Amino acid sequence: AKSKVVVVGSFNVDHVWSTDMLPRPGETLAGRYRSGPGGKGFNQAVAAARSGATTAFVCALGDDAGGRLARELAEGDGIALHAQSSSQPTGTAGIYVDADGRNSIVIGPGANAALSPAHVRAQDAAFVGAGVVLAQLESPVDAVLEAFTVARRHGASALLNPAPADAVVTPELWALADLTTPNETEFCMQLKRLGADADPVTLASQPDDALHALCRQLLPHGTVVITLGAAGCFVSHPAGDLRGDTAPCYRQPAPQVDAIDTTGAGDAFNGALAAALASAPGQPFAAHVRRAVDYAALSTERHGAAEAMPRMHELAERFPDRRQYEQK
Ligand code: RIB
Ligand code: NA
Repeated sequence: AKSKVVVVGSFNVDHVWSTDMLPRPGETLAGRYRSGPGGKGFNQAVAAARSGATTAFVCALGDDAGGRLARELAEGDGIALHAQSSSQPTGTAGIYVDADGRNSIVIGPGANAALSPAHVRAQDAAFVGAGVVLAQLESPVDAVLEAFTVARRHGASALLNPAPADAVVTPELWALADLTTPNETEFCMQLKRLGADADPVTLASQPDDALHALCRQLLPHGTVVITLGAAGCFVSHPAGDLRGDTAPCYRQPAPQVDAIDTTGAGDAFNGALAAALASAPGQPFAAHVRRAVDYAALSTERHGAAEAMPRMHELAERFPDRRQYEQK
C-alpha cells in the first residue's frame, strides 16, 4: 500500500519578478516576470505527491482563474483535492527573487483566510489511512487545529510547519503537533512568543546542545527540525522518543547545489519529509531528513514554487550516490 499524506493549507497564484537585487523603499526596478502555482500548502502537497505519497489537499479556492488552475494542476499531479468554494478571490503572492535566489514575499490570503474548521471536519474520509497530516499557517489557526484533531482521531502524525513567521500558534495547536519544522526566523519568533529568546542571525552557529535546549522549550513533547537553508537542518527529539535515531540531536548538512530560486524550498522539505515519514514510519528519522534535505536542495535549482518540485527519478539522477532514490 502506498503511504498517505493529507496536506491542509493554502493555494496561491504566485506573481514573480526576478531582479538583480531586492527593491528598497522608494525604488523602482525592472525585472523578469512570470506567474505560476504556489501557496505553502499546495507546494507541500505537490512535493509529497512527487515524493511518491498518495496525497490529499484540503484548501479553499475562489471561483476564478486561480481556482481553476489549482483544480487542473492537482489533477495533473494525482492529488485528491478537497476544496472549499469561497466568494473571496483565490490567494495570491507577490514575490521578488534576486540574483542569488533569495526572495521577499507578500501574500494576499483571499480565499485561504476563509478555510473553515467545518470544511476540514467534513473531509473526514480523506484522512482515513493517513500516516501524516501536514499543515502551515497561511490558513486560519482554527482550521489547522481541526485538522490536527482529526489527525489524532485517525492515528496520523501531525506535522506543523509554523510558516509564515508572524503566524500566532496557540498552545492548543502546539499541544496537538507531533513534529514541527520552523526555519531560523520562525523558530526565533515562536520562541519569543513563549517568553524564551534566540537570535535568528546567530542561531545556526550555536552549539548543538544550546540549540537542542531551545528546541525542547518550543515543543517539549515532540520532534523539532530547524531548517537552515544551504546549511541543511538541525534535528531535536524529546528524550522519550528518538524516532529510531541514535542521537537526541544532530545536524544534517545539505548537498552543494546551484540555487537560482529558493522560493518553496522549505515547502519542498516539508512535503518530502511528510511523504518519507508516512511511507516508512519505522525507519530512522535521520534517513527521512536526509532525503528531504536533498529534495529541497534540488528544488532550488529550478524556477518557481510548486512547479520546481522534483520527481523521484530526478532526485536519483541528481544524487546518484543515494541509491535508495532509485525505487520510484
Ligand atoms: O513558501 C513559498 C510560498 O509562500 C509561495 O509559493 C507563496 O505563494 C507563499 O505562500
Ligand atoms: Na525553486
